[in-house]
Amino acid sequence: MNVTTNPLARAQEICEADMVRVNACIHENLQSDIMMIPAIGHYIVNSGGKRFRPLLCLLAARLFGYRGDRHIPLAVVVEFIHTASLLHDDVVDSSDQRRGSPSANGVWGNQASVLVGDYLFSRAFQMMVADGDMAMLKLMSDVTNALAEGEVLQLSRTFHLEMTEAECLEVIERKTAVLFKAAAEVGTCAAGQDERTVADMAEYGMCLGVAFQLMDDALDYSAEAETAGKPVGHDLEEGKITLPLIHAMRGDAELRSRVEAIAERGGYADGDERDWVRRRVAAQRGAEHAMRRACDYARRARALLPASGEAEIRDLLAELADFSARRPY
Ligand code: IPE
Ligand code: IPE
Ligand code: MG
Ligand code: MG
Repeated sequence: MNVTTNPLARAQEICEADMVRVNACIHENLQSDIMMIPAIGHYIVNSGGKRFRPLLCLLAARLFGYRGDRHIPLAVVVEFIHTASLLHDDVVDSSDQRRGSPSANGVWGNQASVLVGDYLFSRAFQMMVADGDMAMLKLMSDVTNALAEGEVLQLSRTFHLEMTEAECLEVIERKTAVLFKAAAEVGTCAAGQDERTVADMAEYGMCLGVAFQLMDDALDYSAEAETAGKPVGHDLEEGKITLPLIHAMRGDAELRSRVEAIAERGGYADGDERDWVRRRVAAQRGAEHAMRRACDYARRARALLPASGEAEIRDLLAELADFSARRPY
């Protein structure tokens, strides 16, 4: 994908001026006299994340011609909540790579990552209070609560081999999709749209977010670590039973019994076993199955975009939904 065909790169171009302000606002809000906070904060926010969620917030506001300033701190709130959840997630998942670099827990240790994650969550809420809109504060607090529930739900399903597609989707909605939903929702709310439009844009964000995580789960089985910028083949190691594996185990009894042994042991015996699982999931086209589901969600997302608003931005939002279900990274 080159710069002109990649919709995420196009979104970055279109929102460039706003993103300069978003980045300045991020850096302003990472200031603290406790040196470790800006050190870890800058390390993670400068490490080259896609900024997909703040872009969605900015694009939703722009779709409806918003001309004010509120969307900037709101986009930052969304990115801070995302960043905090990544700091925590890499501790929970014992992951040592993030965005192509050593993860913060790999550099500073687990305690520092958890505490700076807490700092980012609470700073996001200070920013919401400064914004002063009780409805928005309720929306973001509900989302943050759902994210926490999603991660705990996933943890409680560690090596749960009976996991169904429906259970899998419930985890995905809570741990990931709700934040994409919030991003689209707050941008639309800031632009003063009616209830119906806000609800449709929220659902658009939710469906796009499900597609995004389904693709992330597919990439864990199909991508290379260099492209992903984080470990691959890692989900099963951590006991996450995701859609590619669920699908593959349905068609391969030997794979299922090997996964039972892995569950019993609490992880792969060695790298060869990980490669073996990867090959068997590939033979059953497990990643493709998850991608097909992701495409269904992307289609639903596209259909929810309102007929009103700026056509160029609406088309871009439609392409971003497809990108979520087809992205290579
Ligand atoms: C990673 O999100 C966590 C998931 C929900 C899969 P991103 O892939 O958006 O992470 P960055 O911000 O671009 O690194
Ligand atoms: C998404 O799940 C995590 C969050 C919502 C924080 P993953 O655990 O699959 O995300 P990656 O693969 O580590 O980015
Ligand atoms: Mg993880
Ligand atoms: Mg993942």
